[in-house]
Amino acid sequence: MRILVTGHSGQVARCLAQVANDQPNLDIVFLHRPDFDLLETSSVEDQICRYSPDIVVSAAAYTAVDLAEDEEDLAFAINAVGAGAVAAAAKKCDAPIIHISTDYVFDGTKDGAYSETDVPSPKTAYGRTKLAGERFVAGANPEHIILRTAWLFSVFGQNFVKTMLRIAKEKNIVGVVSDQFGNPTSAYEIAKAIIAVAKLIVEPEFDSFGVYHFAGPETMSWADFAKVVFEQSAAQGGPICSVTEIDTSQFPSRAVRPKNAAMDCSKFEAVFGRDVAHLDIDVRLSVSEIIKNSHRRKNPAMALSR
Ligand SMILES: NC(=O)c1ccc[n+]([C@@H]2O[C@H](COP(=O)([O-])OP(=O)(O)OC[C@H]3O[C@@H](n4cnc5c(N)ncnc54)[C@H](OP(=O)(O)O)[C@@H]3O)[C@@H](O)[C@H]2O)c1
Repeated sequence: MRILVTGHSGQVARCLAQVANDQPNLDIVFLHRPDFDLLETSSVEDQICRYSPDIVVSAAAYTAVDLAEDEEDLAFAINAVGAGAVAAAAKKCDAPIIHISTDYVFDGTKDGAYSETDVPSPKTAYGRTKLAGERFVAGANPEHIILRTAWLFSVFGQNFVKTMLRIAKEKNIVGVVSDQFGNPTSAYEIAKAIIAVAKLIVEPEFDSFGVYHFAGPETMSWADFAKVVFEQSAAQGGPICSVTEIDTSQFPSRAVRPKNAAMDCSKFEAVFGRDVAHLDIDVRLSVSEIIKNSHRRKNPAMALSR
């Protein structure tokens, strides 16, 4: 099976490369800038179809949530128009598409976990462009799986776990928001899920295309997530910091984050099964890799000796 992935340096794309590495029967191709640019929609079809993919995974996106408030047109061009072009190209070469979306399509005011039947109502520019992207993708290719996820972390890219470990090297106390809730999700777990979904949706009898939620197993606040990170770091001799709980009002940001991003993943579980590790385990793995990488950066001789 050939899987074509848009994006290469992103957290999800890099975890997909790791997962695919362990599966020799998977041929995985990554399209990325500068050769592949979602702003150059006229060349998207050629670039995708020349690989004759069995599945297209749309993981590239404009993800600068705060900057998007000032660059909504650019974010729309990438997240909506660009994503739609990828879906149309996939349709042209008869491939289903798995497109990654976000909890930011919701306003975060629900009391309880969001399910796929809840009506989206994004409050941020990023969320609006991602919701438009979902609609463009669905309109362009009926064989779509839109996977909404949240609070991604991994050893790659920029994410909360990395930020906490960096801060802990510089400070003894960190204020972390305790009135926003969500499901921290390992990008490695979503990569595993994407491969599992890909294998099922290429079957001719598969007919459950649509929107799904996929997120980590536990709902918590950012402050509690920070505590999990430092517990795991402490257990491995890594940097630690004491966490002071603060309100959103004490940590203002350009884009107003949803207060509640909890995701109900029962639809995904029923159709695809959901085999995700306990949060502690995924955090431990990421923390351990991040600590190792920072030692390698400090001591290049150690990296060379491996
Ligand atoms: N991070 C989260 O917490 C989170 C939560 C919910 C949903 N999501 C969604 O999950 C997906 C993957 O997120 P991620 O965290 O892996 O993203 P990421 O680390 O920010 O990576 C984004 C990728 O998109 C590529 N990209 C950006 N603009 C592009 C363009 N014009 N043309 C081609 N490629 C472009 C980037 O390429 P360059 O390296 O060239 O910049 C990068 O490889 C996205 O759809 C995101 O919206 C993320």
